[in-house]
Order: sequence, then structure tokens, then C-alpha cells
Amino acid sequence: MTIRLGDEAPNFVADTTEGRIDFHQWKAGKWAVLFSHPKDFTPVCTTELGAVAALKAEFEKRSCKVIGLSVDPLDSHRKWEGDIADVTGHRVNFPMIADSDRKISDLYGMIHPNANDTMTVRSVFVVGPDNKVKLTLTYPASTGRNFDEVLRVIDSLQLTANYSVATPADWKHGQAVIITTAVSDEDAKKRFPKGYVAKKPYLRVTPQPNL
Ligand code: BEZ
Repeated sequence: MTIRLGDEAPNFVADTTEGRIDFHQWKAGKWAVLFSHPKDFTPVCTTELGAVAALKAEFEKRSCKVIGLSVDPLDSHRKWEGDIADVTGHRVNFPMIADSDRKISDLYGMIHPNANDTMTVRSVFVVGPDNKVKLTLTYPASTGRNFDEVLRVIDSLQLTANYSVATPADWKHGQAVIITTAVSDEDAKKRFPKGYVAKKPYLRVTPQPNL
């Protein structure tokens, strides 16, 4: 199944390292990151899961829950968690789905047969409080993900959900943002009292409005 931005994130019930989870009930109106890794006891995945565990407080600050997935079984996930803590210094502090029958991997299109027909690729889905998919990312098995980038996109998504702004290339929380073209100059003056600079008629920048 191809999942596109704006689609409802399909619900599922799964066995995880933190018990049986109904995805929509578990996220309960919060943001969520669902991410797959190809296989347990593999080097890149080991570093990724430690990195996500280290960022738990950052995800929580953004009211965002995190859930991992691989097609290996629960006992394998549990054994591997010891290695992840040893190597990275961070104990996995979020549920890991055991998708041995690949039901969820198939539901989310996480297996790309031309890359590998048994393992999931490195997929990331950011799902909003409304259960709609806000971001999809797909990385190959050989490239570990940058989870600071995932946090950066969540910052942008949360900001742009509440203000008529967009964020420019490489934007980070605290930097100037772009007023969307749907807002007239007259409206922009009212809505953005800190003022704006029109670099071009269609490119007006203003300080981040919620700071
Ligand atoms: C890894 O996480 O290192 C990995 C996983 C699957 C294939 C290749 C590398």
C-alpha cells in the first residue's frame, strides 16, 4: 500500500516490547513517529535505536510518541535491547513492534522488494494528532537516519499548523519564517505584528511568530 501525505495513518494492533498496542489508541491524539528498521542485531540499526532513545525528551517536548518496528520477533528485540544499551549508553525507552508476519510492514509499504524482499527499508512516518500522515521518509538499509532532522520537521509541522507560515531551507526553531502567499500584505501587517521584510513580493520573511 502506498501511503501519501494527508492520508489517514492506517490503524493496527501489534505486539510490542511494551505489550499489545492499538496504534490509534496508543497515540491518543498526540503526534507520533512510526519508524522501521531492517533487522535486529545489525550495526546501523543499533546506532539508530540508541540515538532515538537519547532523544526521548525532545520528542516528549513536542508531544510526540515514538514507536519502532522490525520483522523480527519479540524475544529477539528484547535480547538486542541489551546490546543497544551497551553500545550506545541508551536503553530503548519506546515500544518496538514485532512484525513477524509483516502485516504492518505491508500495510505501510515498508518492504521495497527491489531493495530487499524480506527486510523493511528505513521508513519514517510522522503522524499528526488527527491521525493524518504529515511526513514520510525512506532511507536505504546502508544509511542511518538523522533524527534531529525528524525533530526539525516536527517543529516546522507544528508551527505551520497554527500560523500562515512556511519554513525555508535548513530552517531551525527560532529562525525567521516565510509568510504564505495566501496572506495579503495588508493582512500580513495585522497577523505578524513583529513586521516582515519582502525580499520579493512572493517571499516575505518574519520572525518566528510564536516566540
Ligand atoms: C544495519 O542496520 O547495519 C543493516 C541492516 C540491514 C542491512 C544492512 C545493514
